[in-house]
Amino acid sequence: METLPKHSENSDKISYFDFSREILLGNNLEAKFLANSVDWSEYKTFELPHKPGRSGRISFSSERMKFPKAVHLNENDMKAMALHSFANHELLAIEMMAAALLVYPHSSEEHLRFKRGIFSALRDEQKHLSLYIGRLNELGYEFGDFPLNDFFWRQMEKLKTPAQYTAMMSLTFEAANLDFAQHYAEIFRNFGDHTTASILDTVLEDEITHVAFGAYWMKKWRADKTLWEYYLQSLPWPLTPARSRGIGFDPVLHERAMNDAQFMEELKNYDDDFKITKRS
Ligand SMILES: [Fe+2]
Ligand SMILES: [Fe+2]
Repeated sequence: METLPKHSENSDKISYFDFSREILLGNNLEAKFLANSVDWSEYKTFELPHKPGRSGRISFSSERMKFPKAVHLNENDMKAMALHSFANHELLAIEMMAAALLVYPHSSEEHLRFKRGIFSALRDEQKHLSLYIGRLNELGYEFGDFPLNDFFWRQMEKLKTPAQYTAMMSLTFEAANLDFAQHYAEIFRNFGDHTTASILDTVLEDEITHVAFGAYWMKKWRADKTLWEYYLQSLPWPLTPARSRGIGFDPVLHERAMNDAQFMEELKNYDDDFKITKRS
């Protein structure tokens, strides 16, 4: 079995550019786990690649994988399939955060603070990926044993501004993940798998801080708009706020991260015509 790249600190400083570029374009898991501290040298322009670097076992596949039904999540292979899908989302988040560090300029102290926050979230995503792969290995599986899709990555080219990035990544995808993490933690706990449940608990706590990070910046940038208006304006088509509610949507959980009662009212009442996003 291949050894799991360690999620550890590496105190050797490299430039933010080399760090992010290696993570985004490096084609194996070792590159995705790069853990140097970075210096925020002068911003260099960077053109977003068509796809992140991925080869061999971690290549993208066009094959569709059906997410297992909750009732089957006590079966080893179904559990592995679910963990594999969670792990892929973490890897995509790592790559998209590396892309964000590369494409958005940092000419002011404010931009730099924003990017330091993304850097810190990226390190959390590496931790999550490592936890999921570790659990997969315990179950006798490896990352790459099931098809890997690139859905989240395909949205990246639409995120031309930091506000579009936070609207989609933090307030939509990571926000939905609060519900998913809570939902699946409960399912695994009910099946007596406390190891998997506690990994999801850890992910959930970190993701609350990632959503809060996005909310903090959007509140700063919204000018005279409400957070909800600014969110709607920033979220790229065809995503809608319905995407930010996961299975078992829990407004209390979201409010812990968002800290904006009016936003939560709007989100609770939001409805749209896209049937596919109606999950609960
Ligand atoms: Fe994560
Ligand atoms: Fe996250």
